[in-house]
Amino acid sequence: MDEHEVFVDGVARRLTNDPLAGLAWWLRDGGVTAVKVGCEEGVCGACMVLIDGEPAPACVVPLARVPAGARIETAAGLADSAPGQALAAALRAREPFQCGFCAPGMAVSCVAWMREHGSLPDDRTALAELLTSHLCRCTGKLAIIDALLGVGVEDDEKA
Ligand code: FES
Ligand code: FES
Repeated sequence: MDEHEVFVDGVARRLTNDPLAGLAWWLRDGGVTAVKVGCEEGVCGACMVLIDGEPAPACVVPLARVPAGARIETAAGLADSAPGQALAAALRAREPFQCGFCAPGMAVSCVAWMREHGSLPDDRTALAELLTSHLCRCTGKLAIIDALLGVGVEDDEKA
């Protein structure tokens, strides 16, 4: 089976063009346990990653659909970025999660937004819309939304 190179959190990895294998499981098998697997059908957002900067639920992305040279970013790799650090600080202050299973996927979507806009929405409805592709089985997300309202980085720290 053909292989091609992709970059996972900045590290080059060989990926087979297997149409039956899913990206989420391939990442986890490679040690990226920050990618969680919940619903396995693209609904819960636990497996969210960025592929060339765009959020995608990795459980519904076959390896064969990941282009050569793709830059795959996970919550693990994003944790040290300026948006990741801003999120972590806000979440440490408010501790809105219970089991935390949904947290990495939500962080990925939030970082993608913050790269573009600098700050998360400071309006509950808009922030709920941003997190609409994420489910939280423990909390119903209200405390999470309150903790993340308006969290941001300076313009020169968006990456
Ligand atoms: S496990 Fe991928 S969206 Fe739920
Ligand atoms: S805190 Fe448990 S799923 Fe969100």
